[in-house]
Amino acid sequence: MRHFLTLRDFTKEEILEIIDISLEIKKDLKAGVYKKQLENQTLAMIFEKSSTRTRVSFEVGMYQLGGHALFLSNRDIHLGRGEPVKDTSRVISGMCDMVMIRTFKHSMIEEFAKYSKVPVINGLTDSYHPVQLLADYMTMVEYGVNENAIVAYIGDGNNMTHSWMMLAAKLGFELRIATPKGYEVDGKILEEALKIAKESGAVIKVSNDPKEAVHGATIVTTDTWASMGQESEKEERVKAFQGYMVDDLMMCLAKKDAKFLHCLPAYRGQEVSAEVLESHCEIVFNEAENRLHAQKGLMVWLNNHK
Ligand code: CP
Ligand code: NVA
Repeated sequence: MRHFLTLRDFTKEEILEIIDISLEIKKDLKAGVYKKQLENQTLAMIFEKSSTRTRVSFEVGMYQLGGHALFLSNRDIHLGRGEPVKDTSRVISGMCDMVMIRTFKHSMIEEFAKYSKVPVINGLTDSYHPVQLLADYMTMVEYGVNENAIVAYIGDGNNMTHSWMMLAAKLGFELRIATPKGYEVDGKILEEALKIAKESGAVIKVSNDPKEAVHGATIVTTDTWASMGQESEKEERVKAFQGYMVDDLMMCLAKKDAKFLHCLPAYRGQEVSAEVLESHCEIVFNEAENRLHAQKGLMVWLNNHK
């Protein structure tokens, strides 16, 4: 049995296998074909943070695969009142076939997985957001920009950045990260990613220079400056991130026809200008839709590896 907590635990071949299944599932759906690959199965979804895309995509995905999804907010279950994670895990995994968790500390999800009898999927922690990267890479494949990709990530060194690092390290592409001083990526995760990158031939560069990072990039991406849980830092972050907005001037430095990706929700006028977001809305909203297909692919893959 496998869990999907970070991309670090998956080989390049496995990641590509999940993407292939996801592309196939999307093709089927567009042709009106629904294969009930998870018939009678139940996915428990524990949310300790808000969500639009993750909740809708997992719930709809499970329904389309012939299964059922349970939405469990920490306000409603005993986890939020202090029932130990290991007890919640043993109870829920005794009744459900898979569990998806969105929470704060990554160690919570590791603890849950340790005691779980069924696959656990990371639906975002403070450290990683790996399901988003499945959808992002799937989008790169669809737009033919996955080969020889040079990805520039401009903004906060956060869960999205860490997952981009793991994806680049595993698949072997170039990733340039530019963050303001004081908002760099986690040093330990960077060290780990660089170690994996040595084997795959990936190039991962970190700097405080967004213009240099974006120069000649084939893909430019960013994320909110204040992640969930950092709401009280919003004002100081907006000040610290001046010069880091992905706008038309920034996009001009990238390769001609460079693509823009954003996991959403997007804050226009902060990490991205309204013009850049709207002029790349076709790919960005396809990226969002791909959350559905990529997570269906992931759940089918995990079910096949039980
Ligand atoms: N990108 C993403 O995970 O969106 P939600 O927070 O809406 O789930
Ligand atoms: N970094 C953001 C991603 C949201 C999908 C957050 O954690 O809030």
